[in-house]
Amino acid sequence: MKLWGGRFKEGTHELLETFNASIGFDQNLVLYDIEGSLAHGEMLMKIGILTEDEYSQIQKGLLEILSAAEKGELVFEIKHEDIHMNVEVLLVEKIGDLGKKLHTGRSRNDQVALDFKLYTLEQSRMIQKKLTELMQVILTLSESHVDTIMPGYTHLQRAQPIRLAFHLMAYFQMLKRDFERYSDLIDRMNVLPLGSGALAGVNYQSDREFLKEKLGFVAISENAMDAVSDRDFAIEFGSAGAILMMHLSRFAEELILWSSSEFKFIEMSDRFTTGSSIMPQKKNPDAAELVRGKTGRVYGNLMGILTVMKGLPLAYNKDMQEDKEGVFDTADTVNMCVAVFTEMLKETTFLKANMEKAAKQGFLNATDLADYLVKKGLPFRSAHEVVGKLVGFAIENQMVLESLPLEQLKAACDLFESDVYQAIDLIQVIENKVSYGGTSKAAVVKSIENGKAYLNR
Ligand code: ARG
Repeated sequence: MKLWGGRFKEGTHELLETFNASIGFDQNLVLYDIEGSLAHGEMLMKIGILTEDEYSQIQKGLLEILSAAEKGELVFEIKHEDIHMNVEVLLVEKIGDLGKKLHTGRSRNDQVALDFKLYTLEQSRMIQKKLTELMQVILTLSESHVDTIMPGYTHLQRAQPIRLAFHLMAYFQMLKRDFERYSDLIDRMNVLPLGSGALAGVNYQSDREFLKEKLGFVAISENAMDAVSDRDFAIEFGSAGAILMMHLSRFAEELILWSSSEFKFIEMSDRFTTGSSIMPQKKNPDAAELVRGKTGRVYGNLMGILTVMKGLPLAYNKDMQEDKEGVFDTADTVNMCVAVFTEMLKETTFLKANMEKAAKQGFLNATDLADYLVKKGLPFRSAHEVVGKLVGFAIENQMVLESLPLEQLKAACDLFESDVYQAIDLIQVIENKVSYGGTSKAAVVKSIENGKAYLNR
């Protein structure tokens, strides 16, 4: 008979048996389920609902189930529907009817909210740890590429010269925000739902303070109905993952572009690329492409859970069983993508000479040429026009701005003098970016220092 079968005359249709079951995926929660049950049982003893002897038998049974779970030896059954009832049935098989006392003052509704939160909390912290490693790799790379010059782009057109470290540190900033997004959602999620019962609270003086301490939460939920129907934490987890994947996909896209023969800014290691079954010359950036591609499923998971929760009346509805697989998939995918990205980046060679060569083409010093005239007193708009014409001339004659002779510059505008060449020299152009947060050496070194301080905080 089902654990809930008392009021039923007929058994479950075999189709519903399978359709209704979540054990196929919520067995992922087994360790948290047992952790929660141990705490709940101990609390029941504390408030006199279980004797010490009863709790110690329950505890022993649960610990045996726990160690079997850790060894992957547990056998779950679809007919017991979900992880909560499977564990309970296993306990009753071990210690007999006493096991049936464990569910006193608890519902699967607060139980699943607890398990799912414990899982999501742990995964959030795991992702944060991996993010820190990726940020560390970016810092190390940045330190060795302060003097690597490359074109910076807008519209994917060469715009202004920058330091590679500056470009890399842009990703550091994104990942730092990602890290903080997880910290924020952990803080908000860190509220104990157990002790809420089915929806209205329970008929016992549950020691929720004890449960909170035991299970490592920071606060206790204020409203039982909210506690059992809230899945904000799962949605925020999905959202932080989606934003993080968006960042990784942008970085991945740049690496893919940069590894093409057209750019040739980087060489990816053999270990993180693959070959073609037909074209012998190919070396494909599959790892980066997969990170870019997997972003799609993480977005999908977020959309999925938002849609499941939309319009659900309070409190628990079985729809909510659909909350888990997407979150599990997001956790696995994000963890994996950050780990792969970190290792891939470590093994990527940046082709300094090619980057610098590209920075010398494409008139990346045009803005500085205009600013030179501004400093000599010309309004910026007029300077822009003068330089635009010079660029047009240089393009037609396959020249660069710094190779135009002074007489010709003077013919375009009599404010030009011989110091102009120094003003539009590549390094000078970069060093002209004196503003805080810019690409000058001092600013980039400062941002790397700040990044180090952040990681060592
Ligand atoms: N397997 C269920 C889920 O994942 C557990 C909660 C079941 N509660 C209930 N009232 N049917 O959501």
